[in-house]
Amino acid sequence: MKSWRKIFLSILVIIMICLLLSSCRKTDPAAEADPSSKQIILGFSQIGAESAWRNQNTQSIHEAAAEAGIQLLFTNAEQKQENQIRAIRSFIAYQVDVIAFVPIVTKGWDNVLREAKDAGIPVLVTDRKIEIQDESLYAGFIGTDSVQAGRRAGLFLLDKYRNRTASEEEPIRIVELTGNVGSSVAIGRGIGFREIIGDDPRFEVIYSESGDFLRSKGYELMQSILETYDDIDVLYSHNDSMTLGALDAMKEKGIRPGTDIVIVTIDAEQAAINALQQGEVNCVIECNPKMGPDIMKLVKSLAAGEGISRQIYVQEQVFREDDDLSDIEARGY
Ligand code: AHR
Repeated sequence: MKSWRKIFLSILVIIMICLLLSSCRKTDPAAEADPSSKQIILGFSQIGAESAWRNQNTQSIHEAAAEAGIQLLFTNAEQKQENQIRAIRSFIAYQVDVIAFVPIVTKGWDNVLREAKDAGIPVLVTDRKIEIQDESLYAGFIGTDSVQAGRRAGLFLLDKYRNRTASEEEPIRIVELTGNVGSSVAIGRGIGFREIIGDDPRFEVIYSESGDFLRSKGYELMQSILETYDDIDVLYSHNDSMTLGALDAMKEKGIRPGTDIVIVTIDAEQAAINALQQGEVNCVIECNPKMGPDIMKLVKSLAAGEGISRQIYVQEQVFREDDDLSDIEARGY
């Protein structure tokens, strides 16, 4: 009698586990017959909506997923790493096929990515990079080459000031507005820039502060910078949103951006390109947000169990004041 009860209880437990798993993830009979026809589920953790660039990046991911027939579970972390970690854990619980995310900062991903690996879910890092002990915890990275963007900013200044000698005048004073502290893009854009101008005695970075990639902070910081410094030669800003805020603050003070202060900015939003065409910005370095289609190709490969390249940089260009600016294609963001 006792053993019958044991058998009955075991069967009951098995049925309950099956019910629980099937409620977590619905099965598709067609997919069971032919696993390659199964719709891929992608869990994507975005960092927020801090800039027009970011909104375009989000739009590109949504459009590309729909186009590729990939089911997208999309979350917005509102600039908090803990929200991203929570989102990734929920993707693991849901047993998605692939996880992709934009890491707001480089560090702090080891534990959650080990959990994804233990669950057998491949992870794609997008836009920004991570620093991690065990590189096998993610499949690959696709995004911007932020060090190269910083170099391009420095190279523009070298060219702009090519006729200015070190002894002849005072140093060229640079104000730098950086992206959010600890993000790979803020780090890389700083490193690449200093790689080019760092050993050149003509240049001096007199002020460097994070504006968190926000227009409002770019405005506030520039207002207070202008209270302290009246001898700024260059603004190097890590994104267009902060630049546009800083431009507002300059104009309020009667300063002519692009003429009184040389402006170098990153992203290439339409508003920055317009400012370049109007002579209020001198150099715009593109950061390409439209990586959705490439992300979906990688997601399909990962879902099929295939390997992908460890590092893919998206194509990016530079727009300078001395280029032909008459027929720049509409940016769309
Ligand atoms: O990670 C890319 C950066 O993040 C973009 O330059 C910026 O505009 C965005 O918010």
